[in-house]
Amino acid sequence: MRIFSGIQPTGAKHFGNYSGGFRQYAATQELGEAFFCVVDLHSITVEHDPKDLRERTLDLAAMLFATGLDPQRSTVFVQSHVTAHAESAWLLSAVTSYGQLGRMTQFKEKGERQEFVSAGLFTYPILMAGDILLYRTDRVPIGDDQRQHLELARDIAERFNARFGDTFVVPEGVYPEVGARIMDLQEPTKKMSTTGGTPQGTILMLDPPDVIRKKVKSAVTDSGSEVRRGDDKPGVTNLIDIMTVATGETPGAIEVRYDSGGYGQFKADVAEAVVALLEPVQERYRELRDDPGELQRLLRIGADKAREVTAPTLEAMYERMGFVRLR
Ligand code: TYM
Repeated sequence: MRIFSGIQPTGAKHFGNYSGGFRQYAATQELGEAFFCVVDLHSITVEHDPKDLRERTLDLAAMLFATGLDPQRSTVFVQSHVTAHAESAWLLSAVTSYGQLGRMTQFKEKGERQEFVSAGLFTYPILMAGDILLYRTDRVPIGDDQRQHLELARDIAERFNARFGDTFVVPEGVYPEVGARIMDLQEPTKKMSTTGGTPQGTILMLDPPDVIRKKVKSAVTDSGSEVRRGDDKPGVTNLIDIMTVATGETPGAIEVRYDSGGYGQFKADVAEAVVALLEPVQERYRELRDDPGELQRLLRIGADKAREVTAPTLEAMYERMGFVRLR
C-alpha cells in the first residue's frame, strides 16, 4: 500500500497540523510504503519571503522527523527537488475543470485575504493532485480542510484514466476520527490556523510550556459547566478533542472523568497534556535542526527515492497524452 501526504513550509506549524498531519503521518508510515513531502512549491502561491521559505523548509523537515517519521521507513523529501511534481501539474491542468477550481473553499477564503491573488493560488489544487497521483497513492492522511482538494484529485485521476487509459490509482483520504478539524481556542467556530485564526488561539508546535498553559487557560468556553461534546459547546468540544489527540484517551473517558466538575481543573489538565506531548518533540526538533548537514543528507536520500518512484508514472503520462519521447 502506498501512502502520500504533503505539508506546507509556510507559517509556524500548530496543533491542528499535529492532529490532522504529523501524528497521522507517523501512524500511517507503519501501513505500507510512505512518502511525506515538504510542499515548498505550494508555498509561493501567497506572498512569501525567499529567506523565510529557505529556513522554514528545513524547520519543517526537522519537525517531520521530530514527530516520529523514521527515515529508514518513510521517504521524506522536498517537493522542488523532484521536478516531476511541477511537470505533472501542467499535464493534469488539461483534465482539470476551471469551474471546479473556482469552487474550492480554500481558494475563496485565502483569495479574500490577499491583496494580490496569484494564478498559482487558483491552480494550487492541480499541483496537489499531481503530488498524490504521481505515487499511485492509495491513502492520503490529511485533516478535514483538505477534503475538497482530495475529492478534486480523485476526479482528476478518473478523468485522466477515462481519456488516456488507466494510469492512476484513485486515492482515498484518511481522516482522524477525533481531531480532523482542531478549532481556534479564541474563536472555536474557526479552524486553528496561523493565517486565518487568532495568535492567542493557536498552539504552536514550538510554543514554550508557559505559553501553551496561558493559551489553553484563556480558551473560550461555553455556558454551563459540564465537560461534554456537543454542537452547543464548540469551545469545550475542541478542548476535549485536543486532550484526546494529546493523550490517546477517548472523548467519552474524558467526559466521564470531568463530568460537571467545572472548567478550571479540566483546562489545567488539557494544558499539561499538550505540554507533555510537545516537550519531547521540541527537544528532538532542536537536536535535528541544529544539524543541517544531516538534514540535507536525509533529504537527498528522500529526493532520490521520490525521483525513482515518480519517473515511470510521469513517463506514462507523457506517452499516453501523445508526446514524442526521445529513445
Ligand atoms: P497544510 O500545510 O495547510 O496542512 C498540513 C496538514 O495539517 C492539516 N491541518 C489540520 N488538521 C486538523 N485541524 C486543523 N485546524 C488543521 N489545519 C491544518 C491539513 O489538513 C493537512 O493535512 N494543501 C495541503 C498540502 C498538500 C498536500 C499535498 C496534502 C500539498 N500537496 C498532497 C496531502 C497530499 C496543505 O496546505 O496542508
